[in-house]
Amino acid sequence: MKAIVWTKYGSPDVLEFRDVEKPVPKPNEVLIKIYATTVTAGDCEMRALKFPFILSLPMRLWIGFSKPKPDTIPGTELAGEIEAVGADVKEFKVGDQVFGSAGMGFGANAEYICLPEKPGEMEGGVAIKPANMTYEEAATVPFGGRDALHFLRLGNLQPGQKILINGAGGSIGTFAVQLARHFGAQVTAVDSTAKLDMLRSLGADRVIDYTREDFTKNSQVYDVIFDVVGTLSFSRSAKSIKRDGTYLLANPVNSQMLRGLWVRMTSSRKVVMQTASGTIAALTYLRELIEAGIIRTFIDRSYPLEQIVEAHRYVETGQKQGNVVITVKPINNT
Ligand SMILES: NC(=O)c1ccc[n+]([C@@H]2O[C@H](COP(=O)([O-])OP(=O)(O)OC[C@H]3O[C@@H](n4cnc5c(N)ncnc54)[C@H](OP(=O)(O)O)[C@@H]3O)[C@@H](O)[C@H]2O)c1
Repeated sequence: MKAIVWTKYGSPDVLEFRDVEKPVPKPNEVLIKIYATTVTAGDCEMRALKFPFILSLPMRLWIGFSKPKPDTIPGTELAGEIEAVGADVKEFKVGDQVFGSAGMGFGANAEYICLPEKPGEMEGGVAIKPANMTYEEAATVPFGGRDALHFLRLGNLQPGQKILINGAGGSIGTFAVQLARHFGAQVTAVDSTAKLDMLRSLGADRVIDYTREDFTKNSQVYDVIFDVVGTLSFSRSAKSIKRDGTYLLANPVNSQMLRGLWVRMTSSRKVVMQTASGTIAALTYLRELIEAGIIRTFIDRSYPLEQIVEAHRYVETGQKQGNVVITVKPINNT
């Protein structure tokens, strides 16, 4: 099968479009023919091993110390069709249309992947795809949708509360805006100029262009601040969050990790910094919201698998609105 293979850490040029062996499902696995996958900011960070110091060592231990382990295939999100099932698989059958995550084993930027029917917390897995989404649309949900849901649930957002989402225009933020609205919150979305119309169209009550306005200076106070992008300063934003408010940090940088621990110890504010986990229950919940017309996705650009280098280059510019999709056209089905 064709796949993207990644043999060193570095610029997008380290990604190679190659032939690799097609995987064979174990008794507890399904074999998925992938029709669409994505490139996220997280994929670019992993490719370049660009992580805060505290995370860098565990990531090296996981992916490979000085270079990725042999035959590492990047990509975490996918949508496709089940082509074969292992002998012990009960809940899926050949032909099921699914969407899901490759998990920390990666492997979604390829024509095929095997995933367990019942994954563990950090493993990848699939659920039946929303009936009203194309494969391209469905492939954008598992990472951004799952992570947005994970953090907003930890924020215990209540109807009528105010939330500010910083870095709202990307994969996680565009789902967070819609989910927060669904939970009944008043949503302020912060991002750069070009993304504000999209954020309004997704339901943000208020948008702030961070290139022109500093939200910490406008005297608004929020119950929850969700910093998706990792640019929040605790000291500057202290006046913008209630005394018992919650900071949610999806991408904490070194200084935020240290200051976050200090804020936790010295104030009544809650600080949530963690890696999102759990896939199948979240995907099933998101599918129900998508089929009910409550949330949708926003696709900026789409590239064929063989142009993944260009897709990574584009995502790295930061201009991506919502999601970048990779379409996978099987070239050789053997
Ligand atoms: N904790 C976890 O479990 C977890 C899981 C997945 C991902 N993450 C991390 O979370 C981060 C966000 O992921 P994502 O996929 O949503 O990223 P994304 O798609 O790149 O979105 C980030 C958004 O933030 C905006 N932005 C950049 N600088 C900003 C600033 N100073 N103020 C406000 N907005 C700003 C960007 O727009 P402009 O560039 O136009 O400004 C972009 O729209 C990534 O670093 C990812 O690795 C964490």
